[in-house]
Amino acid sequence: RYEITQRETAVEILPGIRTPLWTYEGTFPGPTIESRRGRPVTIRHRNELPVPTVVHLHGGRTPASSDGYPTDLVLPEGWPGTARGHHGMHGMGGMRDPRAVESRITRDYTFPLDQRPTLLWYHDHRMDFTAPAIWRGLAGLHIVRDDAEEVLGLPSGHRELPLMIADRAFGDDGALAYPALDPALRERPGVEEPYLAGVLGDVVLVNGAPWPVHEVDAARYRLRVLNASNARHYELEAVTDDGRRLDLVQVGADQGLLAAPVVHRTLPIAPAERYDLVVDFSGVPVGGRVRIANRLGSGRTRDVMAFRVARKARDGSRVPRVLSTDVPSWRRSDAVRVRDFSFRAGRMGGGHGWLIGGRPFDPARTDATVRLGDVEVWRLVADVHHPVHLHLVGFRVLSRGGGRPLARDAGLKDTVALRPGEAVEIITRFDGYRGRYLFHCHNAEHEDMGMMANFEVV
Ligand code: C2O
Ligand code: CU
Ligand code: CU
Repeated sequence: RYEITQRETAVEILPGIRTPLWTYEGTFPGPTIESRRGRPVTIRHRNELPVPTVVHLHGGRTPASSDGYPTDLVLPEGWPGTARGHHGMHGMGGMRDPRAVESRITRDYTFPLDQRPTLLWYHDHRMDFTAPAIWRGLAGLHIVRDDAEEVLGLPSGHRELPLMIADRAFGDDGALAYPALDPALRERPGVEEPYLAGVLGDVVLVNGAPWPVHEVDAARYRLRVLNASNARHYELEAVTDDGRRLDLVQVGADQGLLAAPVVHRTLPIAPAERYDLVVDFSGVPVGGRVRIANRLGSGRTRDVMAFRVARKARDGSRVPRVLSTDVPSWRRSDAVRVRDFSFRAGRMGGGHGWLIGGRPFDPARTDATVRLGDVEVWRLVADVHHPVHLHLVGFRVLSRGGGRPLARDAGLKDTVALRPGEAVEIITRFDGYRGRYLFHCHNAEHEDMGMMANFEVV
């Protein structure tokens, strides 16, 4: 059992300046929760913010009642409107949701966590308002562990580092600036209004600190990387002072350990994706630095963070050749159905929006009805970059651009980066719980501008 209070707090992010944030428990990121597989956790969230909130555990296999549906609001004291009524909702212009389950001030979320151990994250999910809420600070980590993972010998203790990467923009007074647009994106063809691309910042935060430098031993480290940015994509590399690239040895994906490690020289990471990486600093001289750089950035956003090797040290860790044997291996022939969903810009109301299958999100519409236990193939097609996320289930990438998946598609995922003009097929079994769940683009602005849909497990 935990209790988390959501409240406005001024936090020192930039040296000597206080930035007003919306926080879980007064910090950004919120408190990191560690759980054991199969041991249910109940978290009471208390909303002391001036707006309604919704908590979603991203990557959690969660009953619908605790999954943070965007109209299941926790209303603050004295808030007049609700999602069931006609008031208060932004953007979508008073859309109603008769199934909304609202509470006032507090709500208990229960997570069974009957799932593969991995790095999850919790964040706000209020309809039409997710992007600004996450931007202002409503995000935290939740790690699920089990015994099988612990005996593998991967780097652990202080050599296991969760890294939440998120860009932000600041005004001169230290307040967060939203939106902040990257000039490079303004030029992108096909995007008529710049904010449509999503909001970018020019300061890269890791665990809430700008471009941190972390002291390490000359040893292997397990870096559990989450891209918690609203819209920014990164392509990570680890570069030494003398320009050598260290291998990024991937041991896990969004939904836990791979069957076997995959070695990357550079690694793209889209919003909401997680990569579990082992990096070996043992070949770096004491005093040397390893920069984690972003090959897609320009100027200050080319840097993410750095490690400074402080001392020689013994290292009993290892990366076994077999990491896990329970990664599902569904085949195309297991699928009882193939569905197609396009992720494209389009007209929504009077303006521009982002649509799935030509339609903006509507909580009252079911976009796909799936039978509990069925294996399905979903074919996802994009106009521009869209990181697509499914709630409830993990999936495998079956094909990309008509060909084989990429090295970075390995393992069980819950978010897949669609590239411009590309079709990606994913396969999954819809098991766990019945109920209404979401799938959506995890560019947070796209999500708020309609690129979200419902599937109902029956
Ligand atoms: Cu990370 Cu539906 O969300
Ligand atoms: Cu999610
Ligand atoms: Cu998108």
